[in-house]
Amino acid sequence: MTEKPSPARAAGKPVLLGIVLLAAAAFVLVFIAMNSNSTPGAGEINAETYAEEVAAALKDADSEIGGDLVYELECNLCHLRGDGSQSPLFYGLADIASQRRPPLSAEQYLYEATLYPGLHLVEGYSDAMPNDYDERLTGPQVGHIIAYLLTFTDE
Ligand code: HEC
Repeated sequence: MTEKPSPARAAGKPVLLGIVLLAAAAFVLVFIAMNSNSTPGAGEINAETYAEEVAAALKDADSEIGGDLVYELECNLCHLRGDGSQSPLFYGLADIASQRRPPLSAEQYLYEATLYPGLHLVEGYSDAMPNDYDERLTGPQVGHIIAYLLTFTDE
C-alpha cells in the first residue's frame, strides 16, 4: 500500500523552498538594517561621530569607578597582562588614542573601540575582542571606563 507521489505535489516543493529562502533572506536583511542603524559603518565617521554620546557619558565620569569596571569586566586579562602581542596594552593609550582614528578625538575613539571593536582594528591585531559591551554597559559606565583609560599616559 505505498502511495505514489503525486506529480503536482512534487512540482510544488521547489516553489515552496524558494519562498522559504526568500523569507529568510528578507529577515536577515531587515535584521542587518536594524542593527546598523545605531552604529556608523566603517568609513562614515566624522568629527561629530559619537560626540553627543561621549559628552553625555563623560558628564560625571570617575576614573576610579572605571578602573573597578575594567577589572570586573576582565578587560585587564587581555589589556593589562602579557607582552601585548595578543591585545594592545593600555599603557600609553592616552597619548596615542587621538591619533588612532582621525578625526575622532581620544574620547570618541575610546568610546568606539570599547563598544564597537569590529568597526576598526588596531593595526596588527585580530578581532578577538568581545563585541557585546554595547549591550552590557550603560552610557555612564562607558564614561567611567574612558576616564580610566585616559589615565594611561606614557609617564
Ligand atoms: C579577549 C581579549 C579582550 C578583552 C576581554 C577586551 N579586549 Fe579590548 N581589545 C582586544 C584586542 C585583540 C584589541 C585589538 C583589536 C581591535 O582593535 O579591536 C582590542 C582593542 C581595544 C582598544 C583599542 C586599544 C588601542 O590601543 O587603540 C580599547 C580601548 C579596548 N580594546 C578596550 C577594552 C575594554 C574597555 C574592555 C573591557 C570592557 C576590553 N577591551 C576587553 C582584546 C580584548
